[in-house]
Amino acid sequence: MTRHLDRRAFLKHSCQGGIGALLALNFGCSARQAVDSGLNSRTAIIYATRYGSTQDTAGWIQQGLGSNAALLDIETLDASQTLADYDHLVLGSGVWVGGVHRQLKALLTKHSQALKDRVIATFVVCGTRGDTEAERQGIARYLDQIHQALGYTPQFVAHFGGRIVVEKLTEKDRAALTRFYKNFLNRPLASWDRTDPSGANRFGESMQTVLEKLHRA
Ligand SMILES: Cc1cc2nc3c(=O)[nH]c(=O)nc-3n(C[C@H](O)[C@H](O)[C@H](O)COP(=O)(O)O)c2cc1C
Repeated sequence: MTRHLDRRAFLKHSCQGGIGALLALNFGCSARQAVDSGLNSRTAIIYATRYGSTQDTAGWIQQGLGSNAALLDIETLDASQTLADYDHLVLGSGVWVGGVHRQLKALLTKHSQALKDRVIATFVVCGTRGDTEAERQGIARYLDQIHQALGYTPQFVAHFGGRIVVEKLTEKDRAALTRFYKNFLNRPLASWDRTDPSGANRFGESMQTVLEKLHRA
């Protein structure tokens, strides 16, 4: 067995442990490039949020990854500066009416060449649980929106539960969700919180641990 295959097997087994939200791991040269230059030296987590749960999730991933990773809001970051400042990126978005954040997709499309091999992980935060095959396909479609704009699927991919606080919704969002709950879910709109601090933490840890171990191998 080649060294490369050993690494693949190692990654596979290291990551199958306790990462419930982990959907997929791809192994390729970009993982090794990330390791070679040191994962945490210049890593940023770019999050796209409307009501804060994706920002919280990004923060929990950051804790798992190690405090050196920066947290950047898609709505305020300077794209060129970010690409100059950080070697490795983790990208995450909430989902609203079937879509991830428009500005995230726009950034990925515009800078796809510069982002080649630099995105190590993607995640979405959404209301879909992923308990059924149809739900899992729905989540895969949300993630695909990011991957299509990016042009590839990174090593680490996850989805996390989000939250809705009815009192905090804009009038437009509350009206849309009230209709959706009534017509499709057959129940009144109510607040819920399925954010997952420990799952997000483990997701961050898994990247850090695996890449550190690979670095030493
Ligand atoms: C207006 C609106 C539309 C939503 N549409 C979807 C959807 O299509 N699919 C889904 O899985 N979750 C949907 N959700 C749930 C959000 O993904 C969830 O609340 C998430 O936590 C939002 O992230 P944020 O707190 O970072 O804005 C929707 C939430 C809102 C407020």
